[in-house]
Amino acid sequence: MTETKKPLRSQAWFGGDDKDSFIHRSWMKNQGYPNDAFDGRPVIGICNTWSELTPCNGHFRELAEMVKRGVLEAGGFPVEFPAMSLGETNLRPTAMLFRNLASMDVEESIRANPIDGVVLLVGCDKTTPSLLMGAASVDLPTIVLSGGPMLNGNYRGKPIGSGTDVWKFSEDVRAGRMSLQEFKQAESGMSRSSGHCMTMGTASTMACMVESLGVALPGNAAIPAVDSRRKLQAQLTGRRIVSMVHEDLKLSKILTREAFENAIMVNGAVGGSTNAVVHLIAIAGRIGVDLTLADWDRLGRDIPCLVNLMPSGQYLMEDFYYAGGLPVVMQELLAKLHGDVLTVTGATVASNIDGVENFNPDVITPLPTPFKENGGIAVLRGNLSPRGAIIKPSAATPALMQHRGRAVVFGSIEHYKARVDDPELDIDASCIMVLQNCGPKGYPGMAEVGNMGLPKKLLEQGVRDMVRISDARMSGTAYGTVVLHVAPEAAMGGPLALVRDGDMIELDVKGRRLHLDVPDAELARRREAWREPEPAMRGGYQAMYIKHVLQADQGVDLDFLVGCRGSAVPRESH
Ligand code: FES
Repeated sequence: MTETKKPLRSQAWFGGDDKDSFIHRSWMKNQGYPNDAFDGRPVIGICNTWSELTPCNGHFRELAEMVKRGVLEAGGFPVEFPAMSLGETNLRPTAMLFRNLASMDVEESIRANPIDGVVLLVGCDKTTPSLLMGAASVDLPTIVLSGGPMLNGNYRGKPIGSGTDVWKFSEDVRAGRMSLQEFKQAESGMSRSSGHCMTMGTASTMACMVESLGVALPGNAAIPAVDSRRKLQAQLTGRRIVSMVHEDLKLSKILTREAFENAIMVNGAVGGSTNAVVHLIAIAGRIGVDLTLADWDRLGRDIPCLVNLMPSGQYLMEDFYYAGGLPVVMQELLAKLHGDVLTVTGATVASNIDGVENFNPDVITPLPTPFKENGGIAVLRGNLSPRGAIIKPSAATPALMQHRGRAVVFGSIEHYKARVDDPELDIDASCIMVLQNCGPKGYPGMAEVGNMGLPKKLLEQGVRDMVRISDARMSGTAYGTVVLHVAPEAAMGGPLALVRDGDMIELDVKGRRLHLDVPDAELARRREAWREPEPAMRGGYQAMYIKHVLQADQGVDLDFLVGCRGSAVPRESH
């Protein structure tokens, strides 16, 4: 181990002989710490998103103890602190509204405290990007530990997947194929253990993203939450962060442009969530890497989907772990990746994955015979999305990827809910469903409503997919021919606001085009008549969010949070 030459950051609090150092040490001692806890050893902050209201992170107190075990073994001083926890299933109007708020909490908590290195305990969707965004704006040595997925869901002896089967069952009930009693029985079989969604939804995707970015130890993404090896991963993470402090291995040395490019390619290969697009752009923005939608389209274009997991495929995260997990995927892709970039292990991507084995080629298909050809995220531009929109081809219906259809427009989520099952609604399977005012400012928070359910009367006819377009996001567990993240959004007067019932829209995924077939003069007339919608809230955090939030193509961060502000604190507190 390389010993640190200059005093660590925490010594500015704990290392002096004056009244301030007395205060810093004395009050910490009320927790029973001995004098040598303050002798200059690395102080490791364990940022915990445990909350009983974030069920995916409900096991994090035990995980934090395992991290502490590793920190102590390596000669560090572990201190656990809470961060705002974002539970996807409970927060209204959407957890995404609070991602940036949580990132502010984390950034200020790290910077303001006597901490030399940080372990981020993350799990449920937004907890990963929010913590990494906050930590990136401070840039201390930082390592991420994901909480791991739940065990496979099971209903009537068959595997069922978080989220993915909720959407399916819900449509089955509406189409009369499943009873309400069966629906409720499935509810208990879906979530059988601690952990986050066990499909390749946003949580699993973001766990893959942090592993492929090199900010988590290899194997982080797939180990189930209740597998003993998740505890071991926590202990090894605790050991490793102490060494990272001695090596001064800061986030900025790992989160390089090449690391983000690797993550984008890995997202394609795992069939990852569309939400990774906004999260990676936002994290990159915090560390000074200018990542764009064009990067997503360029880097994902030739990446096939290798991982046969729901929602794109059939298996679940437990199967992915038994097959070898993300290191196997990265080894398959290695010729395309930047193998020489540095990771938290202190070694390169290529050496981290050297010699890994694929134990189930049905779950992780080899590169020459991929599970699906189109893995990446396609970016669509045109007069309906001048700053871009995205679609996940691996989750879409191939026959709908080139489609011209008549728009059926819903001006808000309430309008959609009131109208979608109206037997009089003039809609057929060739129509394109358009949802407005669900973007970052409009909802507010860009909720996961873009995969709006199909009209009941069409479901009863056996229709399973239709083209849907919105400025919203969709759950990483969802599927369908769904165009998302249209920018600029309708609530700020983007062209999406000007679509009317009966307009013709052309979707051309191969040509990367999204076109509203309405004459410019008519669009100008509609623009004249457009009025900005009333904001949902006039004060508090939500008002600040609406005023400062960036559009989807810029990662939906707040404009004043972009960038790294470092770890220096100029003044004492007393
Ligand atoms: Fe928490 Fe899916 S709801 S990860």
